[in-house]
Amino acid sequence: MKNSELIDEINKLKKEKNAIILAHNYQPAEIQEIADFLGDSLELCIKASKIEDADIVVFCGVDFMAETASIISPDKKILLPDLGAYCPMADKLKTEELIQAKKENPDAAVVVYVNTLASSKAEADIVCTSANASKVFESLSQDKVIFAPDVNLSQFGNASVNKELMVVPKDGNCYVHKAFKKEDVANIRKEYPDAEVVVHPECDKEVQDAADQVLSTGGMMKLAAESDFETIVLGTEVDIISRLNRECPGKNYVPLRKDAICETMKLHTLEKVRDALRDEKYEVVVDEDIRKKAIVSVQRMLDLA
Ligand code: 13P
Ligand code: SF4
Repeated sequence: MKNSELIDEINKLKKEKNAIILAHNYQPAEIQEIADFLGDSLELCIKASKIEDADIVVFCGVDFMAETASIISPDKKILLPDLGAYCPMADKLKTEELIQAKKENPDAAVVVYVNTLASSKAEADIVCTSANASKVFESLSQDKVIFAPDVNLSQFGNASVNKELMVVPKDGNCYVHKAFKKEDVANIRKEYPDAEVVVHPECDKEVQDAADQVLSTGGMMKLAAESDFETIVLGTEVDIISRLNRECPGKNYVPLRKDAICETMKLHTLEKVRDALRDEKYEVVVDEDIRKKAIVSVQRMLDLA
């Protein structure tokens, strides 16, 4: 079936079922183009908290994002078009390890990245995203912080407050952003000496230090829309550039690495979105006891926004 036919079917089903499509900035271009709302993790959480007039939300992102939407909007049916769409970094965190760290450090604040499953959010005092990590750290009264699971984001968030930091697991990282090296920044500067180089806070510190700015994907969109830079180098997943070219044309967007691809983000296709709407699958539901605890840490973050 042609893409245009699939899009017609999707639009028809959306109307029939009173559904909307939310998608993350790393989604493939064909999914970005049919989304009702596109954003970074924080923008997607805020959007999920404001949906009133839809019964179904098709979430094109990875599982923790759909779970978070379900934590925030339990009265909506949240659908993930491909159940294999998970975040390896979120998956690696064992909630028991977080519970153990809490037992050993009862005086520490517990901050978890939104890239965690609901059972870990249920153990946290507050959630953060790449867009608000510094703000969340600044809001803490405790001197000690247990953070899970991204080491690079924890250091980025902690930079202005310098709290005593424990990260669980000790080597938590995103394989896509870990692949960027400071040499990539040096090489791209030789090729594009006037470019503004922006990287994601999940990149290693030496990559962050070599860049001009460290921003969430939503921050990158804003920079492109509001600045005069003619060339912007993006140190994050490549499909942010699909959105930039569509929404902020007229600039030169260069990937810091062409192979920065989050494989599981690419599992959603137009066909799977159509099937998700038609068959109302795959529903993401969070256990109610876990949800009641997790909403507290998610809501604290939303209250800061
Ligand atoms: P953003 O919230 O900046 O879009 O990042 C999400 C993510 O998964 C980064 O790898
Ligand atoms: Fe997870 Fe990294 Fe993919 Fe983001 S880019 S969803 S952190 S694996």
